Amino acid sequence: MARVDPGRLTSLLNPWLRSGPGYSAVADGVRGLALDGRLPAGTRLPSERGLAVALGVSRTTVSAAYDVLRTEGYLVSAHGAGSRVALPAALHVRPDADPGEPASVLDLTVAALPAPPQVLEAATAAAATDLAALLADHGMHPYGLPALRSAVAAHLTGRGVATDAEQVLVTGGALQAWNLLLRTLTTPGQRVVVEQPTYPAVIDAVRAHHLRPVALPVTADGWDPPSSSTARGAVLAHVTADGQNPTGLLASAEQRRELLAGLRGVPLVAVDETFADLVDPAEAPPRLAAVARRPGDPAVVTLGSMSKSFWAGLRVGWVRGEPELLARLAQARASLDITSPVLEQLVAVRLLAQADAVLAERRALLAERRDALLSALARGVPDWVVRPSRGGLVLWVLLPTPGATLLAAHALDLGVRLSPGPRFTVDGTGDRWLRVPFTTPADGVTALVDVLREARARAVSATPTDRTPARWTA
Ligand SMILES: Cc1ncc(COP(=O)(O)O)c(C=O)c1O
Repeated sequence: MARVDPGRLTSLLNPWLRSGPGYSAVADGVRGLALDGRLPAGTRLPSERGLAVALGVSRTTVSAAYDVLRTEGYLVSAHGAGSRVALPAALHVRPDADPGEPASVLDLTVAALPAPPQVLEAATAAAATDLAALLADHGMHPYGLPALRSAVAAHLTGRGVATDAEQVLVTGGALQAWNLLLRTLTTPGQRVVVEQPTYPAVIDAVRAHHLRPVALPVTADGWDPPSSSTARGAVLAHVTADGQNPTGLLASAEQRRELLAGLRGVPLVAVDETFADLVDPAEAPPRLAAVARRPGDPAVVTLGSMSKSFWAGLRVGWVRGEPELLARLAQARASLDITSPVLEQLVAVRLLAQADAVLAERRALLAERRDALLSALARGVPDWVVRPSRGGLVLWVLLPTPGATLLAAHALDLGVRLSPGPRFTVDGTGDRWLRVPFTTPADGVTALVDVLREARARAVSATPTDRTPARWTA
């Protein structure tokens, strides 16, 4: 385990000690160094006496500083093992954490699985083997690593969408790709069509660019194109035909053609394929980019991601589009985060090379979990309407009466964090709907449904709660 010697810690602490080496300045300094990572968690600090000598202060000063840090959770001391830097538990919470929520929460606001074992294998091999050859230059590739652009092109070609590496721009996820399109192709005040319900960040991004979201209703029967007057003047649309989030819908080939026809007049449709690889290829209708377009149909650009099919922690996604558009997006990214990290891209190359095997395992795991959750819901809350999802990672559940927001607040009291329906709509409607991911292992679904039933009972009986439902949703 790393340790920091008294001399080194003294020089790191110098900026904090300019106003005088009191105990609170020492505590502030160590806290700051822990938070900015220069003293990583686990680092062993010098003894009180050793640091006091190096700083030229009394031992009581250092002792008082260590006491403060211990109380705050930045220092853990054990007899014989000295004092080690730690990060307090409260630092691990989310931006929307509700003060007072239970310490351990089952987080169902994130519809994503933990990494499969192949991610660690790929990461290890990429770091040990592939990285060395790329260290000789500055490491920034505005369109993405050539090897990853080729791998994504091959992957899409294998799924029926003939693609050249030239047509692929690597991004930091599908959501960044959507933001780049908004940044590049729109000006404030314009209309952008989004599905309703949809992934909340799609709407939030539209608003963040000072644009007006126009709802394209998605019902149990499919996509219901907005009337021509609503869509009129829209400059862009966002659709997810493969495992729509949150409804789980998988558009049939006919629905895909109708969807494109319904969006005539919108110059460009961004097809978000974040969940597409979780659909069994044997059942998958043609990808939207491969659906033959009729005269007047909008142009299509595809957004893709490693997040749901492999691991969201990689933050690797892509855009498939015409090279002229990609050049504009790559240029726009120059003022954002410039390019994607090299190592993660190398990991993605290795994972895509074994996509068929990894994805077959993912689909089998999800099918088992989805079926377990469906049965538990049918047993535990038989009056809720649940439609089996054909894609994606979530069930979109209809409650007998409105109250999903209140249910989510009570669920938080009971240790489960959920995203209620209105989070997924442009206009705040949808309070009869609840999104429930089927990421929970089969042996946990009965307990989960018990919580949902109890939370609903409390909501219906107007039991008071101080909680506010989570906003951070993925
Ligand atoms: C439709 C949709 N697009 C994009 C994302 C985010 O993808 P990424 O992690 O690749 O940015 C999500 C995450 O839930 C999603 O549901």
